[in-house]
Amino acid sequence: MIRKCLFPVAGYGTRFLPATKSMPKEMLPIVNKPLVQYGVEESIEAGLKEIALVTGRGKRAIADHFDISFELEKQIAGSSKESYLKSIRKVLDEGTFMMTRQREMKGLGHAILTGECLIGNEAFGVILSDDLCVNCDDDGVMAQMVKLYKQFRCSIVAIQEVPMENIEKYGVIAGDDMGDGLFRVKAMVEKPKPEDAPSNLAVIGRYILTPDIFDILRDTPPGKNGEVQLTDALMTQAQNGCVLAYKFRGRRFDCGSVPGFIEATNYVYENIYVDGEG
Ligand code: G1P
Repeated sequence: MIRKCLFPVAGYGTRFLPATKSMPKEMLPIVNKPLVQYGVEESIEAGLKEIALVTGRGKRAIADHFDISFELEKQIAGSSKESYLKSIRKVLDEGTFMMTRQREMKGLGHAILTGECLIGNEAFGVILSDDLCVNCDDDGVMAQMVKLYKQFRCSIVAIQEVPMENIEKYGVIAGDDMGDGLFRVKAMVEKPKPEDAPSNLAVIGRYILTPDIFDILRDTPPGKNGEVQLTDALMTQAQNGCVLAYKFRGRRFDCGSVPGFIEATNYVYENIYVDGEG
């Protein structure tokens, strides 16, 4: 079954400069936990315990986060402060971590292709940690998608309705409604102008991909903004076979933008954060 989840974490995070000048944007905390840890927890909860990080220069803090911090942990061992390490210790007990570096930023499709050496010939999840998804009393978004994969055995993208004035920020799908929030993808366009968008159904940063995506990506020419777009490769996959789009249950925050980041921070502080626990 699906065991692996790929995290493209090589991006610059320019919208958060100067904070992200020397610190990876994925390490920005929502209250007390870095963004990437929320994504990894969602992956592990879905049973995807082998975490494949596609990192880049200046991203060592991410690798260090998913390791023990020997001096710090020795220092606080046995004290009440140890409770702050609870969540990260759980992640380290349950997950395994592998990484490779993306040397040039040539787009999301290129980042995924760079991760091929970690994934091999099996279906895998992808989480873009900028998109924080929460679903307190229900399965997380990746867990919902894994259930669907078991049934349909094809690539699946998470979607959400967004206002037309924001559609230009997303990959957008058009598809046949199969009921229960599922669509069979007929068209997919990366960051269209509102007048060219095939619908208001935007792709959110959660995917399950079948491994034929790697060969397709190798043959996908640079698209929007001169980057190799995963959206274009998925469109090819949809034409050759089947790609599903799934309107997930839960809330999603765009933590790649300052307003979304603040909204997520307030939401997590009020609904999820537990004082005295990590
Ligand atoms: C990427 C994808 C886009 C998707 C978005 C979701 O864009 O290329 O299709 O809708 O993630 O967050 P980015 O936000 O990295 O520009």
